[in-house]
Amino acid sequence: MLIKIKNKNDIYSSEITDQETFKQRREFIKQSGQFALAAAGTLAAPELLAGALPTPAPRAKIAGVTKGPFSTDQKPNKYKDITNYCNYYEFGTGKRDPAVNAHSLKTNPWQVAIEGEVEKPGVYNLEDILKPHDLEERIYRFRCVEAWSMVVPWVGFPLADLIKRFKPTSKAKYVEFQTLYDPENMPGQRRRILSWPYTEGLRMDEAMNPLTMMVVGLYGEVLPNQNGAPLRLIVPWKYGFKSIKSIAKIRFTEHQPTTAWNQSAPREYGFYSNVNPEVSHPRWSQAKERVLGSGFFAKKAETKIFNGYADEVASLYTGMDLRKFF
Ligand code: MTE
Repeated sequence: MLIKIKNKNDIYSSEITDQETFKQRREFIKQSGQFALAAAGTLAAPELLAGALPTPAPRAKIAGVTKGPFSTDQKPNKYKDITNYCNYYEFGTGKRDPAVNAHSLKTNPWQVAIEGEVEKPGVYNLEDILKPHDLEERIYRFRCVEAWSMVVPWVGFPLADLIKRFKPTSKAKYVEFQTLYDPENMPGQRRRILSWPYTEGLRMDEAMNPLTMMVVGLYGEVLPNQNGAPLRLIVPWKYGFKSIKSIAKIRFTEHQPTTAWNQSAPREYGFYSNVNPEVSHPRWSQAKERVLGSGFFAKKAETKIFNGYADEVASLYTGMDLRKFF
């Protein structure tokens, strides 16, 4: 199947009226939910048994996307690689499992609970969470803890813009995120692989950094379920596991929240999880990375501190011992 990739000639928000953008946004939100049904139909059992990559289902194109700041000029990975080599333990622990199994995730309707130290708590429909935000494409480097990396054209908006709307109180020092808890449709949650729901957290200044992004799309189209539909986090200077998928709760806290991986293996996964070639994982070095799609025999690339985003984020950690706060 031919995947339509957004290019320079596609329509950007400045070229269409507000009303049109609004109508298209509604359609996009509606179609985010319909994607789950579409994907289910494409996964023919013989194809999977033969070990072939599942063909990505056609998904809604997101209208009104502008080019955002901070994009790398590195070439993005292929759509097929980004969507078939995933980590999403709610749908299996193998890299291919989420692409095969995540069609059971129901993304429509979707609600997000805003809780804790905030002036405007509540349970909001996804539509209300997204409505005021202009969507932009940012091509970010993405580095996973198992030492592979890729470059992804995400579509979304700064988390800071969302946080400001809900007015955190002066006690809010951290933000905690939770994935949907739905063992019926997320089979991995029926097994005790991790403590469910998957939970992640950021310090408030990390959450407010302009690089931190709420993501709703990939390659100009609605986010596939296996990549965290309908709403996920992307924190490009941290290892991939901080970028929690399918967010159903955002809680503002005074104290550092517990996170799923830190709870499961505290010696291996710290709260900060900043990409740092000088701090090894206890079981492997983090100094080099294999760029996804470059071939098994290709030379590994040197990993950069903060995944190459030091100019934007190093000041957040001034005076901190990054070996201790790994
Ligand atoms: N979010 C949830 N809810 N469950 C998960 O298992 N895996 C994390 C992160 N977010 C995960 C998650 C890990 S380990 C990585 S590397 C990234 O998602 C992978 O994102 P991708 O599959 O879109 O590449």
